[in-house]
Amino acid sequence: MKKLMAANWKMYKTWDEARDTAEALVKLTAPALSDDREVLVFPPFTALKGVADIVAGQKGFFVGGQDFYSAEEGAFTGEISPGMLEDAGASYGLTGHSERRHILGEDDAYIGQKTAYGLANGLNVILCVGEKIEERKGGSVEAVLERQIRAGVKDVPTDIAPNRLSIAYEPVWAIGTGEVAGPREIEDAHAFVRKILISVFGKKANEMRILYGGSVKPANCSEIIALDNVDGVLVGGASLDGESFSQIALA
Ligand code: 13P
Repeated sequence: MKKLMAANWKMYKTWDEARDTAEALVKLTAPALSDDREVLVFPPFTALKGVADIVAGQKGFFVGGQDFYSAEEGAFTGEISPGMLEDAGASYGLTGHSERRHILGEDDAYIGQKTAYGLANGLNVILCVGEKIEERKGGSVEAVLERQIRAGVKDVPTDIAPNRLSIAYEPVWAIGTGEVAGPREIEDAHAFVRKILISVFGKKANEMRILYGGSVKPANCSEIIALDNVDGVLVGGASLDGESFSQIALA
């Protein structure tokens, strides 16, 4: 299974900044990227097509949309469809990101609807899950992850190709805080995610990628990526700089 090294630029970067970062990333990463790695960038929508054009033709590079709505087109002001993302050069979409759950108020059912719709309409989907600090302290990590995953994949056909659906485990308390989860916490959570995926999709869930996200940096990435059941990373802050994310992608 190829490791997926993903950059989530969130609501950062003008087009000029996005172009410079994408060009630096390709220049520093493409010549050294091994066959068992893939690089994925989630730019803001305004830079999606431009970044897709920059990475086009680079082996192992992909672009994704940070969000999408579950309809093909229509009177949905402010929304964007999987087809529009694909038209701009995206092959991936994110669902369930902590900031959409906890700042924008998306619930499990809505996230499940989007996940199934994106997959049915050509996107590969990364479903993000993760507990808040009070849920970890209260001993409910597994209950939270199980609820978020089961609701998130509820309408995904069980014959889905395993490379099309990934889970990103992003503990909320580790996002943007500099406080990375410990190796044991990551391995325990990822093993549990794998168990739930197998209970839903059977043995082929062993080929679904499980990414870790939360304060991944060049200095900690090689240790994290070597852990059991860690098939990639989803990086926020440290992905905004081309050189920093290149070090992560190649770690
Ligand atoms: P940070 O890498 O900034 O902690 O963000 C993680 C994240 O939310 C990626 O989606």
